[in-house]
Amino acid sequence: MIGNIDNLLNLANDIFQKKELKPVFTQVGTIARYLWDRGWAERNAGNFSINVTGFFSDRELDHLSSYPFFPLSKQYPGLVRTLFLLSGTGTRMRDVVENPTEHICFVYISDSGSAYHIISENQGNTAVKPSSELATHLAIQQQLLQKKSTEKVVLHAHITELIALTQLSPFTTEAAVNSLLWGMHPETLLFLPDGVGYIPYILPGTENIAMATVRGFEKHKVVLWEKHGCMAVGKSLSEAFDNLDILAKSARIYFQCKSTGMEPEGLSNSQLKEIRDNLA
Ligand code: 13P
Ligand code: ZN
Repeated sequence: MIGNIDNLLNLANDIFQKKELKPVFTQVGTIARYLWDRGWAERNAGNFSINVTGFFSDRELDHLSSYPFFPLSKQYPGLVRTLFLLSGTGTRMRDVVENPTEHICFVYISDSGSAYHIISENQGNTAVKPSSELATHLAIQQQLLQKKSTEKVVLHAHITELIALTQLSPFTTEAAVNSLLWGMHPETLLFLPDGVGYIPYILPGTENIAMATVRGFEKHKVVLWEKHGCMAVGKSLSEAFDNLDILAKSARIYFQCKSTGMEPEGLSNSQLKEIRDNLA
């Protein structure tokens, strides 16, 4: 039977009630609270996607495939029959804290990888539409699947301390910003030995920023968007958040040292080498 819109509404209800997804919704609320509390999600800033395909059986995915689709602006061959939880465009993280499911939606990619449909808890005027950074989320999620990565989450936030760094011309290259961030705290090198990718300013919400970000994620778990924010991947939303939190700490240490009027010393090359040698 080909699904119709009325049946899709019933299906939405089933998906939002799925008990396996409850812990995911809880984590969404927790991380949204951290982002809001730290001032990293002003107004509607920040968004996330979680690949939840693994929670659904082939039969359930067949069912999803039988509904009408909207065309995507490009084809994602690596995302055929995948289902993502996405934060809604325009939603405030402080509202997500109060009721996660009201501010998220699911996006299902068709059997051809070139169309999608949106599954939202509410319909009509209050239906949730996916984040304006959908192109970047889909591109990174496709890359993670192609790499057979265990990472399923992509998180974007406006980390004030990291945005501030990208406003300072000495730190607007990958080498310079990594050298600074690693030098401020040993944990940064310990947990992010590949450092961050650096993307010079590109208009948000575009295919161009999606393509540049994917290149950044070839070697890194975090990518900085100059004068805008950053994107992180993780096995869970919590892990993606940790990757950003560690970097924010390093940047904060730098600015706190500078506020004394003095230059921070930074870890020496031999101290950094010792950490790297200890990683193996
Ligand atoms: P959305 O509300 O569309 O997710 O946009 C927030 C954002 O940070 C865009 O870069
Ligand atoms: Zn943003």
